[in-house]
Amino acid sequence: MGDSRAIGVFDSGLGGLTVAKRIMELMPEERIVYFGDTGRVPYGTKGVSTIKKYAVEDERFLISQNVKMIVAACGTVSAVAADTGKELPVPFVEVISHSVKDAVSVTKNKKIGVLGTPATIKSHAHKKLIEKLLPDALVIETAAPLLVSLAEEGWYTPDNEVARLTAEKYLDEMKSAGVDTIILGCTHFPVFKELFSRLLPDVILIDMGASAAKYIKDTLEKSGAVNTGGAGEHKFFASDKPVTFEKVVKIFLRDNGGDIKIDLVDVEKNEKSND
Ligand code: DGL
Repeated sequence: MGDSRAIGVFDSGLGGLTVAKRIMELMPEERIVYFGDTGRVPYGTKGVSTIKKYAVEDERFLISQNVKMIVAACGTVSAVAADTGKELPVPFVEVISHSVKDAVSVTKNKKIGVLGTPATIKSHAHKKLIEKLLPDALVIETAAPLLVSLAEEGWYTPDNEVARLTAEKYLDEMKSAGVDTIILGCTHFPVFKELFSRLLPDVILIDMGASAAKYIKDTLEKSGAVNTGGAGEHKFFASDKPVTFEKVVKIFLRDNGGDIKIDLVDVEKNEKSND
């Protein structure tokens, strides 16, 4: 029994690898097929209809890879384009609702911050769900688009002056409001954890990938779809290969090991492409 097909994971770029990493840690028996739309990142500053079009194409590519589930490892897609997952022939997992449940269960003072892309913050997706579960919560939402570029550039460590100043600015309102919990509402942001914790030492940081991974494990177990056929190799695809690509992949995967092979895809045509 079980289902030996891979779990499909996609993001606008490489930030979704933070979610893939959480799945790999929690479910080492599962294989992942990852697609990063590096040719079209960022999504978070684009309009809803463009983000939906991109999400549909990303999902179509993963379906063509014969996956058993699709995970939108992108806060932006989860916030504004989760409806694109409804018609898929396999279960679709977004990353927002699980992180909200975790945030609501750990907050003590009911003051929660949400840090996301402009599209995610504009949708109020996290806020609406938080207020459903905790009607008297205070939710401070901040769009932090520059953090996406800083993360992709590898500028996220506490000793990076630009990252520190940028983070201080974005966290300022949450700090003044006294939030005790912050949802990292963009999958690029977990790399900033160490820096954020230095700036706000008592605040709990919720990683959407960690929350979603628990849900995915539970779902696969309940539906008898865990891979019992032995471990296989993960596969990585992207729509473009920027100069710093390999370095950035390793940042998000927290991997210092050997080469990671990445195939290029023309996602609009749904076919392989060349460098
Ligand atoms: N990883 C994407 C997210 O979680 C952010 C990057 C982007 O703007 O495309 O929203």
